[in-house]
Amino acid sequence: MHLALYAPGLGYYSAGSCKIGAGGDFTTAPEVSPLFGRCLARQVADLLNQGVDDIIELGAGRGTLAATLLGELESLQQLPARYRILEVSADLRARQQQLISERAPRLAARVEWLQTLPESCAAVVISNEVIDALPVRRLRREQGRWLELGVTLSDDRLAWATRATPATALPDLPADLPDDYETEISPAASALLGELGRRLQRGAVILFDYGFPAREYYHPQRNRGTLMCHYRHTAHGDPFLWPGLQDITAHVDFSALARADHGLDLLGYTSQAQFLINCGITGLLAEVPAADAARYAPLAAAAQTLLSPAEMGELFKVIAFGRAVLPPLRGFISGDRAHRL
Ligand SMILES: C[S@@+](CC[C@H](N)C(=O)[O-])C[C@H]1O[C@@H](n2cnc3c(N)ncnc32)[C@H](O)[C@@H]1O
Repeated sequence: MHLALYAPGLGYYSAGSCKIGAGGDFTTAPEVSPLFGRCLARQVADLLNQGVDDIIELGAGRGTLAATLLGELESLQQLPARYRILEVSADLRARQQQLISERAPRLAARVEWLQTLPESCAAVVISNEVIDALPVRRLRREQGRWLELGVTLSDDRLAWATRATPATALPDLPADLPDDYETEISPAASALLGELGRRLQRGAVILFDYGFPAREYYHPQRNRGTLMCHYRHTAHGDPFLWPGLQDITAHVDFSALARADHGLDLLGYTSQAQFLINCGITGLLAEVPAADAARYAPLAAAAQTLLSPAEMGELFKVIAFGRAVLPPLRGFISGDRAHRL
């Protein structure tokens, strides 16, 4: 998964093939509507108002969220000193520069691109659909023990192969899962959060992604795990089909993020829909008169995509961690599910 996504010049995220948006392989909440970024701006503004200087966005895609957030924070008179983007893809970095200079020309000077996380920072760190792109390890239960699924060559084709995995390399997984059960773990996600925890002196980390708490993630019926590939808006489960040309993802185990060794306070965990409602999406929608159908209808349809439990509203979650900031956060003021992690 690491090679297929990140091999220099060949990986999906490093070869200029990553296609986000209506004409690409998949779309994301900031691409669905500016309502997403405008709501998040209200949460970010509260945190900047607590004396946090910068925003750091991980994996900014086409740069749409950055442009929307900057524009909205300007309207809220709460601009960050710097908007810093950590992006692995040189191609996407160039697209971000272009889009931000077109959509937020006055604010582009505040944006800078990082090669690595800063050693120490006071920031609001945000990401949308980045944790699911971090390489996972795939496991299979056989004769009551966990084997790791790796990749081999068989008749010149890529194929799965199992190998023994030391129990010490595995997190606590439910003991009662049956033989033939397959699933994933994400040491890379926990490690990223650990790094953020080590470097963040003051501020918050707000992560949006699709996934579940451990109890649902490792449910006996989810016996084929969550590894998914996306190619031209078609989702399928075969990561060997077009290595480097298709996205490969796995759902996020939010309990594992909460439990990771990061030393940050857990500030909230809820669904995307609840977060957006808490941040005022219905008020933003109401700013456009329903009688103005040409503007209202597409906005209402986008809100439906972001909020509906049948679309992005429930599968997508948001989790927030912090250090030296005052809770509660507005995005979790109602319907916080942190106790379920
Ligand atoms: C699924 S896209 C989401 C893009 C954007 N956040 C959005 O919502 O439209 C994943 C993004 O994360 C970037 N990315 C993937 N792995 C990364 C990593 N380890 N560090 C930083 N960025 C990463 C990709 O290049 C891409 O910009």
